[in-house]
Amino acid sequence: MTETILNIRDLQKNFGGVVATRDFSLEIKKNQIFGLIGPNGAGKTTIFNIITGIYAPSGGSVEFLGEDLVGKMPYQIAQAGIARTFQNIRLFSNLSVLENVIIASHKDCNYSIFSAMSHLGSYQKNEKMARERAMQLLEIVGLQDNTDRIAGGLPYGHQRRLEIARALAIHPKLLLLDEPAAGMNAEESEELCGFVFDLHKKFDLTIFLIEHHMDVVVKLCDMITVLNFGETICKGTPQQVIADECVIEAYLGVEK
Ligand SMILES: Nc1ncnc2c1ncn2[C@@H]1O[C@H](COP(=O)(O)OP(=O)(O)OP(=O)(O)O)[C@@H](O)[C@H]1O
Ligand SMILES: [Mg+2]
Repeated sequence: MTETILNIRDLQKNFGGVVATRDFSLEIKKNQIFGLIGPNGAGKTTIFNIITGIYAPSGGSVEFLGEDLVGKMPYQIAQAGIARTFQNIRLFSNLSVLENVIIASHKDCNYSIFSAMSHLGSYQKNEKMARERAMQLLEIVGLQDNTDRIAGGLPYGHQRRLEIARALAIHPKLLLLDEPAAGMNAEESEELCGFVFDLHKKFDLTIFLIEHHMDVVVKLCDMITVLNFGETICKGTPQQVIADECVIEAYLGVEK
């Protein structure tokens, strides 16, 4: 039987009187590309924020590879193997492309304060490894010719790729992508689909994807959950979801 990577049960999140997520459950199996869609304000990003430890849930459970994540800090969840990108790109915009990825990979570094201060021994070895690994990742995401550029000066699509390279630097088993195709035209989002699919294959990555571009979702995902006002209104394959009347009424039929 295929291994369960992420198991969410009866998740609830209230912000004062606003119920952002209500009784949300979902199971993601190893190697799936799982989509989460729904109108603005439906609660999609809130679910990512709970999985990654940014918000504590008001109720329910989140298990990653059988381990309970509730109460863990974001860095512990990253160490466990969950990486993410953000709806609004988060980079160190004044640092170089290479520096952005090296910083992200520092969870793997293992040296004492003394060797860091003296720039000797294990510090040098770790820094060399982090640099080599960062160069490899930048090559994989197609930014190998931009390593010295300032991240904030990159075109938007390249910033998205850099954010994904940073996420990959922690060797994730599960990658959460929050609207990676936002702001992209049809050609760019088509290119992004190929890129995400290649990463999924190359790194054996399970992917949980929030996206409004339905062409991207339908092309990439094997299963989709649809949220509306914090509640699941449909779950199924892309074909089932796009034919569902509730989904058409709540989401697909409405111009964004
Ligand atoms: N930190 C917060 N404090 C108060 N309310 C919040 C907070 N974060 C989210 N919300 C509310 O929770 C609801 C769900 O928001 P969320 O950002 O999860 O939606 P979303 O589905 O990601 O929307 P979008 O497609 O616009 O990104 C919204 O009503 C939002 O205003
Ligand atoms: Mg969102």
